[in-house]
Amino acid sequence: MFITFEGIDGSGKSTQALRLAEHLRSVGRDVVLTREPGGSPGAEEIRRLVLEGDPDRWSAETEILLFTAARRDHLERVIEPALAAGKIVISDRFADSTRMYQGLSRGDLRAVVDKLHALMIGREPDLTFVIDMDPDTGLARAKSRNGTEERFEDFGADLQHRMREGFLALATEFPGRCRVIDGNRPPDTVAADIAAVADKALA
Ligand code: ADP
Ligand code: TYD
Repeated sequence: MFITFEGIDGSGKSTQALRLAEHLRSVGRDVVLTREPGGSPGAEEIRRLVLEGDPDRWSAETEILLFTAARRDHLERVIEPALAAGKIVISDRFADSTRMYQGLSRGDLRAVVDKLHALMIGREPDLTFVIDMDPDTGLARAKSRNGTEERFEDFGADLQHRMREGFLALATEFPGRCRVIDGNRPPDTVAADIAAVADKALA
């Protein structure tokens, strides 16, 4: 079982991915918790290239290549071996993030993203939690972390608003695997909803 978390910056993905991993481990499941961009040593090196520096450091086209290169390494070295060993893999972001951020942020490059995905990745999650969140609240939370990985947050509120709409449309496009979760609630409430959906999917 391959589970992903998607949504805008600051929507609570990392918090909820960890909560779900803890829940599944508590019921005896073997879980690998990972993230993108990154998740393998090579992909973590690419992470620094894409998340730090000026927003105009890379074009959207170059970003598609960098994020896909990172994903291919993560898939080969972490995700596929874990799934083959019968583990549950939970990834904080995956290909849907490229469909949104590179596919929609600077013109319509969705078809290019999908072509490269088919060629180099060719795998979708079994279950995707799309955490929905007010974009201004999400951006404020993300900004309050005050780190160096702010390149996408520096694109500003307009991008967050478009990404939120994009993720909701994506959930409609892939209804079989996507579940929209209301992230504007206390973490425990959100975690309980997610655990119930995951338990049902695993049963
Ligand atoms: P993401 O991975 O989507 O960027 P995080 O899980 O890192 O989001 O959460 C961003 C910030 O918001 C963190 O400081 C976290 O503690 C806080 N947070 C997460 N979930 C909630 C929630 N349901 N209500 C209030 N604050 C939250
Ligand atoms: P992440 O560390 O998940 O940030 P956050 O916790 O703020 O959500 O991801 C960092 C940024 O990388 C985020 O703004 C979205 C962007 N991103 C892409 O643009 N394309 C991708 O394929 C992925 C995986 C992430």
